[in-house]
Amino acid sequence: MLKVAVLVSGGGSNLQAIIDAKQAGKNPNCDLCAVISSTEGAYALERAKKADIPTYVVPRKAYGTRDEYTDAIIEKLREVGAEIIVLAGFMYILSPKFCEIYENKVLNVHPSLIPSFCGDGFYGLHVHEAALSYGVKLTGATVHFVSEVCDGGPIIMQKSAPVLEGDTPEILQKRVMEQCEWIILPEALRLCCDGKVEVVDGKVIIKED
Ligand code: GRF
Repeated sequence: MLKVAVLVSGGGSNLQAIIDAKQAGKNPNCDLCAVISSTEGAYALERAKKADIPTYVVPRKAYGTRDEYTDAIIEKLREVGAEIIVLAGFMYILSPKFCEIYENKVLNVHPSLIPSFCGDGFYGLHVHEAALSYGVKLTGATVHFVSEVCDGGPIIMQKSAPVLEGDTPEILQKRVMEQCEWIILPEALRLCCDGKVEVVDGKVIIKED
């Protein structure tokens, strides 16, 4: 079993997908040991409590610089013994130190097919607004390891969804979550917990199941 901590800031629907997969017996080697939130009132905390997962709040506003906040998060991750970390709607970019300590141990889900519509400023609805304004016919989601380059780490898994006539950013966001994020994030985590993911020359290789 690998100890997995999930970092959240908001609603936590991706956390819910991870919890559901675990409860359905789809990730037996995953021990969900902590949900850590950057915000007091995050609904993700309620989801974790309902699933009997220990919750912690490390409030961003209680720390000054990004380095100070990163140190506080690292301290909490060490305290709970996290071996794998999932960023599931966690709204803050942590210092390079975090990426070095947990190299190829931190998964992030991004709501586009990287390298499209990613990097600085591409978060939340902005990603879908950009996809619609470009006019792409396919978009999707990407699960990748976190590196010091924003949305630039090795890609573990991607899944596409169509862009349809009449889509608004909100409609597209919902489709990408339902058809892509909630499927590939639990599956990528399962592969990591089963030891099936290897990084060679900056690229992910998935070993046969
Ligand atoms: C998702 O769209 C995810 O791709 C992005 O933030 C959103 C989080 O949603 N990183 P939730 O909190 O998991 O519902």
